[in-house]
Amino acid sequence: MSFIIAANWKMNKAPQDTVEFFETFRQTKVADKIKTLFFVPAVNALPTSQAGVNWGPQNIFPAATGAFTGENSPKVMADLGARYVLVGHSERRSLFFETDEQTNIKLHSAQEFGLSPILCVGETLDERKQGLTLEVLQRQLVTGLSNLTPSNELHIAYEPVWAIGTGEVATTEQVSEAHRFIRKFLQEKLPQHHQKMNILYGGSVKPENANELSKTAEVSGFLVGGASLKPDSFHGIIEAVQG
Ligand code: 13P
Repeated sequence: MSFIIAANWKMNKAPQDTVEFFETFRQTKVADKIKTLFFVPAVNALPTSQAGVNWGPQNIFPAATGAFTGENSPKVMADLGARYVLVGHSERRSLFFETDEQTNIKLHSAQEFGLSPILCVGETLDERKQGLTLEVLQRQLVTGLSNLTPSNELHIAYEPVWAIGTGEVATTEQVSEAHRFIRKFLQEKLPQHHQKMNILYGGSVKPENANELSKTAEVSGFLVGGASLKPDSFHGIIEAVQG
């Protein structure tokens, strides 16, 4: 299983910035055991595809075409060369009121159009303080993965909401507890598939903490926000994992 290092650019970069990023990134040597992915704003689909990297949108609407103002078609993204998609990122859940039921519909749709989804799960600070972390993960996984048989790649990203963009990283104990819980869930629910499923950690991953986090139990990838925007820091994370 390759270790996945995925960049989530969120709503950053214009097409010209994207071209410049990949001109620099092209010089990065990535070991065979690492797979890099880029989740870019839809407006950057073309230059990202032309850079020849693995990429996908940060969200899709579950239909090929139609009267869905402002949404991304999974079919168009796939036609443009996308192979992956993020589903249920905490910013989609908290800012755009996406529910677990909607994440489930989007996962089915992603698979239908040949995109490999990464389902994002994670608790808020309030939920953690109330001791609800594992309960929240269980709910997000049960509903999110309902009636789903992986037809292509399918991965999970654990992103504690309180660690996203805050500089506050979850401790290795917190990360391994959540990741072990997710792995056990996958072993039980998708016994024929779980060995091919990576569990990524996201939340303030940086070159300085990437090595230790990469060695934490059941961590088989990262989903990186802020530190993925500059080729230097993204490269630093890759180097830290390569050792
Ligand atoms: P940061 O790495 O900026 O904390 O963002 C994490 C994230 O939300 C990736 O999807």
